[in-house]
Amino acid sequence: GAVPVICIDGPSASGKGTLAAMVAERLGYHALDSGALYRIAGVAARRQGLDIAAEHADALADVARSLQLVFDGEKVLLEGDDVTAAIRSDQGSRDASLISAIPAVRDALLQWQRGCAHVPGLVADGRDMGTVVFPQAPLKVFLTASAEKRAERRYKQLISQGFDVTLTTLREELEARDLRDTTRTVAPLKPAADAKVLDNSDMSVDAAVEQVLQWWAQVR
Ligand code: C5P
Repeated sequence: GAVPVICIDGPSASGKGTLAAMVAERLGYHALDSGALYRIAGVAARRQGLDIAAEHADALADVARSLQLVFDGEKVLLEGDDVTAAIRSDQGSRDASLISAIPAVRDALLQWQRGCAHVPGLVADGRDMGTVVFPQAPLKVFLTASAEKRAERRYKQLISQGFDVTLTTLREELEARDLRDTTRTVAPLKPAADAKVLDNSDMSVDAAVEQVLQWWAQVR
């Protein structure tokens, strides 16, 4: 379509969300946090007492298709209940990773994600924005950082929010999630053939934003 889309994919805690939000703000574009969708689907499944396993694929896809969602500023409401904290908890992260490996669930969320491309443009972040959801996007960024840096950043973020976590556990969980995301058969995490790889291990957020805007100026 005519709506310009910028894709930002990469592993957990690579800084995709922050980068996508800042680029969207600078360009006056909409933002899609696709990871939040999988997190919300996981919470919704649990609320219905469903086990997140392949044998329940049909029921889980139904849950994903019929999510009653409201994004209220920073808050996420599911059927009217505030699930903002639940989707970011450890359990929420694990469940998102599990439910996202189920093909029928990914299918159910595909059109919803594509429907987020509204004028004047969209910045979408996730794992498969460039490979599956918006393969025609003129700019695809694959954002990476070392596991050590990503664990450190997530640690600081969670500690500042009052969560009780350890750096070692976080790093182990990140690596387990990365392994699941990169080795799954459906929409595995990998750079699109035409993606620009950006390693931000030793880069400020502002520098990363400038790099993406510079690439965007070249392709749009
Ligand atoms: O990005 P975030 O960490 O919030 O994503 C949560 C989980 O959702 C990831 O571990 C990944 O398994 C899944 N995900 C996905 N495809 C996306 C975005 C997220 O499979 N486009």
